[in-house]
Amino acid sequence: TGYITYDPGFVNTGSTSSAITYIDGDAGILRYRGYPIEQLAENSTFIEVSYLLIYGELPTQAQLDDFTQKINRHTLLHEDLKRFFDGFPRDAHPMPVLSSAVSALSTFYQDALNPFDEPNVELSTVRLLAKLPTLAAYAYKKSTGQPFLYPDNSLGLVENFLRMTFGLPAEPYEVDPDVAKALDLLFILHADHEQNCSTSTVRLVGSSEANLFASISAGINALFGPLHGGANSAVLEMLEGIRADGGDVSNFVARVKNKEKGVRLMGFGHRVYKNYDPRAKIIKATADQILNKLGVNDQLLDIAKTLEETALSDDYFVERKLYPNVDFYTGLIYRALGFPTKFFTVLFALGRLPGWIAHWREMINDPATKIGRPRQIYTGEKEREYTRISER
Ligand code: CMC
Repeated sequence: TGYITYDPGFVNTGSTSSAITYIDGDAGILRYRGYPIEQLAENSTFIEVSYLLIYGELPTQAQLDDFTQKINRHTLLHEDLKRFFDGFPRDAHPMPVLSSAVSALSTFYQDALNPFDEPNVELSTVRLLAKLPTLAAYAYKKSTGQPFLYPDNSLGLVENFLRMTFGLPAEPYEVDPDVAKALDLLFILHADHEQNCSTSTVRLVGSSEANLFASISAGINALFGPLHGGANSAVLEMLEGIRADGGDVSNFVARVKNKEKGVRLMGFGHRVYKNYDPRAKIIKATADQILNKLGVNDQLLDIAKTLEETALSDDYFVERKLYPNVDFYTGLIYRALGFPTKFFTVLFALGRLPGWIAHWREMINDPATKIGRPRQIYTGEKEREYTRISER
């Protein structure tokens, strides 16, 4: 079978070619379809960025209106799907609730799952973009015991999501434009990041010609882990731990450097960036601004800043080129917007969805795609004789 390259974690393995997202990790550069992330953050919207990632170009006004309208038409969930939420325990983590619900979507649309049927893929794309915010909001409502709200399709995607999450049927809910803008920005910054763990998972599952819903559900599960999307919740837990410990940042940093089991500086380090993560730069700059605007004074933000300063001037982190990543400051913003810690990774999933879809579609249309099937270096027993149980 010839020579097999051993590359745990795929540190040096290019699994695909891709025209979606460009990263230069040494220079700290990130571009979607050629557009610098800084320009998109400044000028674009999440819905426009979703279009850009999936279709390759910025939309004209007519294309954007059509795309928005299509998404608005699909925000409702089948009433039977709503009942799925009854089966989960009240304190269920919203990530597995979300992945289960997305997996279940393929049972509701069984006649539209052929990965090679373009109109069906288009329909599944729109259904996912429209329904994930509704599913996420219901996962939240489930945890609070409050009633589910139907989507209000006169609202934009982010506004609708905020209303379904925080609104109540008996009271009118005014979406705070500052909150909506902050969340929209964070979604833009999370929308794609080339071959990360969850996107590679979406591609790998899709390479077996599994449908889009099944592939995205797998991506959500990959995102759940604390080394990936789960890091945003883990950062907040870490900051709270430091505060409970009297706010002693240097003590925590010492534990990280001693490599105590399970103690890492969460929200720091990246496989590709060996420089400041350009997303973290934008988020750090806006965290102060957003918290100020919302009138939130959070001690944890001060702890985070001290922690960053301490780490960036410490040899351990300098030598290893460890900088804050996208997850370091996002949790503080989500918290200021009113989301509980457990819910942060769901927000990452909402942001990453267009990227996952764009990659799945690129994969399915790429003539070079083969089923993902890595090889291994076998280290087990040589051939041996079976022994009867009485002789063992
Ligand atoms: N805290 C302390 N040490 C670290 C950290 C950290 N956060 N990250 C890396 N290191 C050390 C690591 O111990 C190793 O040291 P040594 O050479 O002495 O063994 C060296 O830096 C290289 O680390 P690695 O684990 O080989 O790097 P990787 O590319 O396999 O891991 C990572 C990347 C993101 C999983 C890792 O940096 C990490 O665990 N960070 C904390 C979790 C986190 O913030 N994840 C979010 C990633 S960004 C967005 C996302 O995907 O959600």
